[in-house]
Amino acid sequence: MTFTYGRNIRLTLFGESHGAAVGVTCDGLPAGMKIDEGYMEKWLDLRRPWGDISTARREEDKPVILTGVFEGRTNGGPLTIVIENKAQRNGDYPERILRPSHADFTAYTKLGGFNDYRGGGSFSGRMTAPLVALGSVLGKALEESGIYIGTHVSRCGEISDDDFDEAGGEELKELLLSLRDKRFAVIDDEKGEEMTALIKRAAAEGDSVGGTLETAVYGLPVGIGAPFFDSLESVIAHLAFSVPGIKGIEFGLGFGFAYLTGSEVNDQLVSDNGRIMTKSNFSGGINGGISNGMPVIFRTAVRPTPSISKKQQTVDIETMEEKELELKGRHDPAIIHRARVVMDSVTAIGLFDLMLEKDRDIWRGNF
Ligand SMILES: Cc1cc2nc3c(=O)[nH]c(=O)nc-3n(C[C@H](O)[C@H](O)[C@H](O)COP(=O)(O)O)c2cc1C
Repeated sequence: MTFTYGRNIRLTLFGESHGAAVGVTCDGLPAGMKIDEGYMEKWLDLRRPWGDISTARREEDKPVILTGVFEGRTNGGPLTIVIENKAQRNGDYPERILRPSHADFTAYTKLGGFNDYRGGGSFSGRMTAPLVALGSVLGKALEESGIYIGTHVSRCGEISDDDFDEAGGEELKELLLSLRDKRFAVIDDEKGEEMTALIKRAAAEGDSVGGTLETAVYGLPVGIGAPFFDSLESVIAHLAFSVPGIKGIEFGLGFGFAYLTGSEVNDQLVSDNGRIMTKSNFSGGINGGISNGMPVIFRTAVRPTPSISKKQQTVDIETMEEKELELKGRHDPAIIHRARVVMDSVTAIGLFDLMLEKDRDIWRGNF
């Protein structure tokens, strides 16, 4: 089992939910990248639990940069960021309870019972905090090259937000930036209030809800990706499915393609001031695994949080007897509103890695 990802950059996640800390170390970063700790804290803050729609476990999530930075810029060595766990309560996990649809059973079996089961150990959503810390660094570098990433909660239960404008344009960039200032990231704030009310109702009933996230990338140049194994879709999907709780992904029209004809969904090409663009963007900004210059748009499905306090059936791993489970402890009644910045972060990681491949020298000049 490995916690390492990347080709041009190599990142390794470390830590456990209820251990001393979680963190990331990232090798292969170009020297000279600006490290803005305030920006990192802003992104981490969007992932932190808040109000009564998130877990009652309130971590400070203060990132400490241990290595790889000299005088505010990367120094070419591995960048290591550590986030201490301070609010863990080990008593919440007194025995080996297999939570239905969490990773407890698979982790126990794969690791021969040596897994740290407290709070899901290294399978926990807590591991996404360092991903966000690193994502903020790479996201900032992308922004300085005119590439903006943003995610909103496009659906929660039966409630839908507006969609991103498929065609994009300057307004899309402004919209993506404005989402950064929203703790509950929706385009239509009224829909956000309805979603919040739904999450609160689920929490009051000891239940949880899921939803979908929609992510857009504005300003990605033509030519990022590859036709087969490192296609832009493959890289983004690989990273999206590395986020615990993500169960589906579609690019552009996605599964909607199944119901329509080629003449209805082919993106017609136009010439605009010496630039080739498409009239529509059903392809979600990707053709042949490579960015086509239109906004990259994809949606991910987020499951309802597995840990709920309603009665469920499970099996006692020691005796193999079926038993009833009534979970105590602190859990998110929904993951979507916290996972949106995680999706921004993993997208930044994937794009940055691919862009180093495209043209290292030109890209370096942009920091
Ligand atoms: C930010 C974030 C917070 C999460 N919080 C919880 C939680 O409080 N309780 C829980 O059961 N699962 C939580 N999860 C989801 C589980 O980690 C995930 O469902 C579990 O590891 C099983 O993985 P899978 O759903 O991808 O199969 C969270 C995920 C993320 C990304």
